[in-house]
Amino acid sequence: MSGHLRGFRLVEHPLVRHKVTLLRDVSTPKKRFKELLDEVTLLLAYEVTADLPTRRREVRTPLERTTGEEVDGDRLVLVPILRAGLGMTEGFLHVLPTMRVGHIGIQREHESLEPVDYYFKIPPDPGEREFIVVDPMLATGGSASAAIGFLKRSGAGGIRFACVVAAPEGAARLEEEHPDVPVYAAALDRELNEHGYILPGLGDAGDRLFGTE
Ligand code: PRP
Ligand code: URA
Repeated sequence: MSGHLRGFRLVEHPLVRHKVTLLRDVSTPKKRFKELLDEVTLLLAYEVTADLPTRRREVRTPLERTTGEEVDGDRLVLVPILRAGLGMTEGFLHVLPTMRVGHIGIQREHESLEPVDYYFKIPPDPGEREFIVVDPMLATGGSASAAIGFLKRSGAGGIRFACVVAAPEGAARLEEEHPDVPVYAAALDRELNEHGYILPGLGDAGDRLFGTE
């Protein structure tokens, strides 16, 4: 399926597949669910940032001076889509602690499945920054597409999107509406059910993360 999705990158590392299986497990308790989401995100972050530019930096080892490299973390902005995206924040900050963090509040309306936005806060000078939008679930793609649209209208310099579980419908929608945005996922699932839930999926990510089910 991902063959005709040009911007879609499936992260297939064995540790990612292992941890996604545990996330799917209905018997995984809330505390472990949060830890696993952290761990999967950390592994995803490695792939999402694989082509970031680096700049040269002089460094003195205990033996001599040499030239190393550094990533300009301050130019990068992590944007979790509230609520469930918050569960992917720590994983990125573990590997890139100098990233800034913006927030976009979007709630999927239960009947229509349309995204309803309620909060938007990003750092100044968006045109000079690279944005990484995160949300564990890409279902219809409505929430992710709306979030990316808001960032584009704010003048964001570059945008990537990372999720844990993607539905084919959501992946296709992002490809159609935002073909310039690379999409990283830990799993590409079968389909959506009639209520817009991903099958086999992992259930309601926000509810499992925050215990609101
Ligand atoms: C979930 C999920 C995504 C969205 C995905 O959020 O975290 O944001 O649904 O669905 P979509 O691709 O069809 O838009 P939800 O609306 O349940 O809000 P919550 O995170 O506050 O629970
Ligand atoms: N949001 C979730 O949290 N899970 C799904 O399966 C679909 C949307």
